[in-house]
Amino acid sequence: MRSSKDFFRPLAVGAPQPVTEIPARPSRAIHFFDPSNEKMAAKVPQMVGTVDVLLGNLEDAVKADNKDAARSGLVRIAKENDFGPTQLWTRINSLDSPWVLDDLTTLVGEIGDKLDVIMVPKVQGSEDIHYIDRILAQLEAKAGLDRPILVHAILETARGVASVEEICGASPRMQGLSLGPADLAADRRMKTTRVGGGHPGYLVRADPVAEQPDAHRSTYQQDLWHYTIARMVDACAMHGIYPYYGPFGDIADVVACEDQFRNAFLLGCVGTWSLHPKQIEIANRVFAPSVEDIKHARRVVAAMGDGTGAVMLDGKMEDDASLKQCLVMVELAEQLAAVDPQLKAQYDAIEVTA
Ligand code: GLV
Ligand code: MG
Repeated sequence: MRSSKDFFRPLAVGAPQPVTEIPARPSRAIHFFDPSNEKMAAKVPQMVGTVDVLLGNLEDAVKADNKDAARSGLVRIAKENDFGPTQLWTRINSLDSPWVLDDLTTLVGEIGDKLDVIMVPKVQGSEDIHYIDRILAQLEAKAGLDRPILVHAILETARGVASVEEICGASPRMQGLSLGPADLAADRRMKTTRVGGGHPGYLVRADPVAEQPDAHRSTYQQDLWHYTIARMVDACAMHGIYPYYGPFGDIADVVACEDQFRNAFLLGCVGTWSLHPKQIEIANRVFAPSVEDIKHARRVVAAMGDGTGAVMLDGKMEDDASLKQCLVMVELAEQLAAVDPQLKAQYDAIEVTA
């Protein structure tokens, strides 16, 4: 057993000190690009400052023949650009692939000082995080980095879901988790063929009306991902790290995309993936508290004074617990306003009435 005293010691001589807290940096949209796709790569510099996270994807959706080009493309893009307020992440190939070792050694050695987070796909259990943790420490020491690169795991295997708490707690580097609905569906042998989103067949039906067997019975579509997202949110909150929705593959269906993102936001997620620029706009809007929510939250904060006891506002009881919920919203609004001037202007314009 590893002593708790060793948990925050570097795992290699000369590696940076592990962090004791994961900073709450805005990450409403993690925008994926394929660094081997010249058209996509050319757009990256213009996207800096318009999205919270740019992620150079090396894994699925990059053809096997393009793996080297994607890796070297990402190195070039990272070296040539100043990312300002936008974080730079990458998704490496899976740990059982022939490419991952080159991904890690090349990226940490060449652009480790520019990379904020490494997303690791198909994580099965804490042993995968321990492997990454040690090798990153060795490579960081070799590269002379002065801050550790954080790690984000994709929850996309049945065993990963069953081990979600131990994955989140496996290293001080753990920054967060994303839902990987496509791989997860395949691994679980779910009978779907989509990338994220709902399914019309997954529903409940209203009871039959007595003595009217042919009467219409309404159906209500259910959310296939509710269970996994809820588990993910609890595991992340328990370990002080951040949960995210994943990919929503039907780019044209902006309405259902917004619904999935909003469900995730309401349940506790801080952001999502974006596979197309139009999903960035949706994510930036959905993963920020609305003006109405902030107006209400500030009213409750003002009315609650020292934060104890209970008050009535518009016929509703507010107490210590509802105040804590309001403070979550107010804190998030402040973090987002610090990077988003448009949002700041909207929040600043709110007038709080008694
Ligand atoms: C994402 O990687 C997924 O499999 O959904
Ligand atoms: Mg996947």
